[in-house]
Amino acid sequence: MDLGLQDARVIVTGGASHIGRTIVLGFAAEGARIALVDKDEVQANRTAEEASAAGAALVTVVPADLTIREAAEQAMQASLEALDGVDVLINNVGSNRPAFFLDTPPESWDELIHLNLSSCMWCMRAVLPRMQAQGSGAIVATASTAAFGEPRQGVYGAAKAGVISIVRSVALEYGRDGIRANLVAPGLVLPEDDETMGEMSLWRDRDAVMNEDQITYVKRNTPLRRLSRPEDIANAVLFLASDRTARQLTGQMLTVSGGFAMR
Ligand SMILES: NC(=O)c1ccc[n+]([C@@H]2O[C@H](COP(=O)([O-])OP(=O)(O)OC[C@H]3O[C@@H](n4cnc5c(N)ncnc54)[C@H](O)[C@@H]3O)[C@@H](O)[C@H]2O)c1
Repeated sequence: MDLGLQDARVIVTGGASHIGRTIVLGFAAEGARIALVDKDEVQANRTAEEASAAGAALVTVVPADLTIREAAEQAMQASLEALDGVDVLINNVGSNRPAFFLDTPPESWDELIHLNLSSCMWCMRAVLPRMQAQGSGAIVATASTAAFGEPRQGVYGAAKAGVISIVRSVALEYGRDGIRANLVAPGLVLPEDDETMGEMSLWRDRDAVMNEDQITYVKRNTPLRRLSRPEDIANAVLFLASDRTARQLTGQMLTVSGGFAMR
């Protein structure tokens, strides 16, 4: 199906590696114009090359540390200039270091909150006025099943719960301006290949994230008995971003976890 995203102006945060990379390649295959915002310039350039080869009408890399408000705002301005506006914002950047709450050093809380939640707020705040002025726009944010409460995911899950809340508020407040805002909540998605992740990817040190017993636990408790692939998440993101497939959807969340979570 043609999603009607040819030449759509799309900003993807955290678009260099793994899930973000697959989202970028999904928009590229639709012929979109893409601003890829990521701190890892090396991997971002690699993904941008793939996106050009996959059919993107334009790909521009915007290097930025999205844990810093000024940097996030500047990155959005640079993206708006490069794309000459915006039709779609994908708030995908995020990361985690699973640990029990008492083992999560308070010094790391700010970074987790800024990377997962504040970045989403800063980026939306920077692009919403442009979307309001043109009377259209679609926002999709990557949440997580951790937002529903999972062990070893406390601070990260709290930040993602915040993402769900702020995106729904935006949907309520700016729907009248023609802006849709939705969420995708992935369950566990392992990278399939080292080439798909840069040095900053959480999955570079996979054992620090999940051991084999924990992965087996997730599979056993997933009705479909398989983990999600990055393409499963990207398909849901593109579906929600397209006005053809999701014209009447706003404030909604698609949980993509093979049934591991059902809300
Ligand atoms: N993979 C999973 O199992 C899973 C599950 C649920 C939700 N998610 C969410 O999906 C999104 C993508 O996750 P992923 O697994 O692809 O992560 P990843 O670590 O592989 O990729 C994250 C990307 O963000 C970039 N990045 C990291 N810190 C940054 C910073 N300070 N500023 C700018 N860019 C930065 C990295 O370079 C990388 O390209 C995240 O929001 C994550 O929380 C992932």
